[in-house]
Order: sequence, then structure tokens, then C-alpha cells
Amino acid sequence: MTIDDLEAVYEIECASFPHTSWNIESFLRELTANQFAYYFVIEKEGSVVGYCGMWLVIDQSQITTIAVSSEEQGQGYGHQLMQHAKAYAGKSAGILSLEVSVDNDRAMKLYEKEGFLYGGIRKDYYGQGKDAHVMWVKLDE
Ligand SMILES: CC(C)(COP(=O)(O)OP(=O)(O)OC[C@H]1O[C@@H](n2cnc3c(N)ncnc32)[C@H](O)[C@@H]1OP(=O)(O)O)[C@@H](O)C(=O)NCCC(=O)NCCS
Repeated sequence: MTIDDLEAVYEIECASFPHTSWNIESFLRELTANQFAYYFVIEKEGSVVGYCGMWLVIDQSQITTIAVSSEEQGQGYGHQLMQHAKAYAGKSAGILSLEVSVDNDRAMKLYEKEGFLYGGIRKDYYGQGKDAHVMWVKLDE
């Protein structure tokens, strides 16, 4: 992901997470000021159709966000983003983890397919009583 991608990323972000979307400045900070952050996009015919971000701190890695534009979902872009995330994180980390809302069945299906296991519940992670599953996958298998 580069600064030039941010407009397209922000559009997908707002459509994907209407109540909790990050603003452009948050993405900009991740790209320019967070040495632990790694963000990448996936394109179709030169246009951004999805993105994923992670933090990599020594041997720990965590997905911070992943989304595919609503028109392009169900075509394998989420799978490709996740494959790249696992390969990149696997160069230095042994485990990749993430949080997912307990009612986000579509995302959980994707993560299960990618080998993620359920590691517990974070109560009220998203506020207003909305809990998150913690999921994790071992990267060296
Ligand atoms: C979760 C998300 C990134 C998946 O991206 P995607 O490009 O649609 O995923 P893929 O096409 O690679 O599908 C991977 C798997 O996800 C599941 N999936 C995809 N579309 C689905 C749908 N419409 N209904 C149910 N499961 C679905 C399936 O298990 C699928 O595997 P399969 O096609 O072999 O059965 C996408 O739905 C999205 O952006 N959602 C909104 C943002 C979001 O919730 N992000 C996750 C925050 S934790």
C-alpha cells in the first residue's frame, strides 16, 4: 500500500466498517510513522479491490485489518491477501493472530479455511457489548 492507494482504500474501508472505519490519517500514520506496520493492497486491472494490514514486532504478528470491496467479494481476493500475509509474517514470526467480531461469519469462514484456530473471546472489544474472537495460526506448518 502506498499513499497513492489511500483514497481507494478509504472507500473500501468506509463501506466495510461503517461504524468503526479508520480515517485516512490513521492509514497514513501506519504507512509513514509505524515501523512495525506492513500494509498491502490487491489490484484488479490496476484498481485496488482489497487490502490487508499487519503489525510485526520481532516474532509476533497480528492482522490489524483486511477488507475486499463488496463488489469483488467471494472471488478469492480475501484468500490471496491472507496467503500473502501468512507468507510475509512467516519470515520472522511463528504465529499470526487477529480479532474478529463474533457475528462476522464470512470473515471467520475465511480464517478457518486459512487454518486459524479459536483462541478465546475478548469481551466488549468493539464497545457496546460487541465481543471478538481471538484467532491464531501457526506459521511454520
Ligand atoms: C472477509 C473478507 C475479507 C473475505 O474476502 P473475500 O474476497 O470475499 O474472500 P474469498 O473470496 O477469498 O473467500 C474466502 C472464503 O471466505 C468465505 N466467504 C467468502 N464469501 C462468502 C460469502 N458471501 N458468504 C459466506 N462465506 C464467504 C468462504 O469460506 C470462502 O471460501 P470458499 O469460496 O472456498 O468457500 C470480505 O468478506 C470482506 O471484506 N468483508 C468485510 C470486511 C471484514 O469483515 N473484514 C474482516 C474483519 S475481521
